Amino acid sequence: MSYTLITGASSGIGKAMAYKFAAEEHNLIITARRLEALKEIKKDIEAKDEVKVEVIDCDLSVEENAYKLYEKVKGFELNALINNAGYGNFNFLWDVDLPHMTKMIDLNVKSLSILSTLFTKDYKDKEAQLINVSSIGGYYSMATAATYVATKFYVAAYTESLAQELKANNLPMKAKVLAPGPVETEFVDVANQTAANKIDPSTFGTFHTAEQMADFTYQLYKSDDVVGIVNFADMTFTTRGAIHPAFNL
Ligand SMILES: NC(=O)c1ccc[n+]([C@@H]2O[C@H](COP(=O)([O-])OP(=O)(O)OC[C@H]3O[C@@H](n4cnc5c(N)ncnc54)[C@H](OP(=O)(O)O)[C@@H]3O)[C@@H](O)[C@H]2O)c1
Repeated sequence: MSYTLITGASSGIGKAMAYKFAAEEHNLIITARRLEALKEIKKDIEAKDEVKVEVIDCDLSVEENAYKLYEKVKGFELNALINNAGYGNFNFLWDVDLPHMTKMIDLNVKSLSILSTLFTKDYKDKEAQLINVSSIGGYYSMATAATYVATKFYVAAYTESLAQELKANNLPMKAKVLAPGPVETEFVDVANQTAANKIDPSTFGTFHTAEQMADFTYQLYKSDDVVGIVNFADMTFTTRGAIHPAFNL
């Protein structure tokens, strides 16, 4: 029996992914800080799908918790790890709250890298998948979100490079980048919480629903491509090869 581990599954895209992957007969391990929300999702999914759902509450902005989380899932065989937990922050750099910013880097970058590395060490020789959630902001610069888009550039470059390493060594594990455009979730509210000048969500134009994004994620999971990205101009989703130019050793 194998499981899909999804971080940031208490709301938004991660929650919708949990429902989608369960509907596709994946057993789940779902994690986030809000334990009650996770328990509700477990109850709801197990009532309608023939799958097992394990819940683990964990604050991944604390480095040692990433190690603790991985230790807790060691007893489960994983078919996929989806590193989805993350948040943004809308501020000009001079208005940024530094502790909030460093916590964001710890969550979006540090914990994601620790979990990805531990997973890769264990699963590189297996038909397993690592899907790391970046953003279209991982391929574009954006005023008011310098640090956030930089964390997402990190996720994109890191995951594309890992995909290159796995391919060059003929290893079966796959590493993939999901790059959503605007999605209706708690993301904008969270990003606005510490903003000196709150961003009106309509600035971003059209939004996908979290359920649409979960369907796109599953499309990426089933494909042989490295990147699943939304085109900001027309909001279409496509899977494709790596986007960053590759430096081949
Ligand atoms: N929505 C968008 O427009 C958009 C666009 C591009 C990329 N993304 C990316 O998509 C991912 C999911 O975001 P979302 O849009 O679904 O937003 P969301 O509704 O705010 O969900 C964020 C998830 O991350 C979890 N999380 C936040 N801080 C955490 C922490 N310290 N430790 C553990 N888990 C934590 C939250 O759970 P708890 O609060 O319970 O911990 C929640 O489950 C993020 O990586 C985001 O950067 C979103």
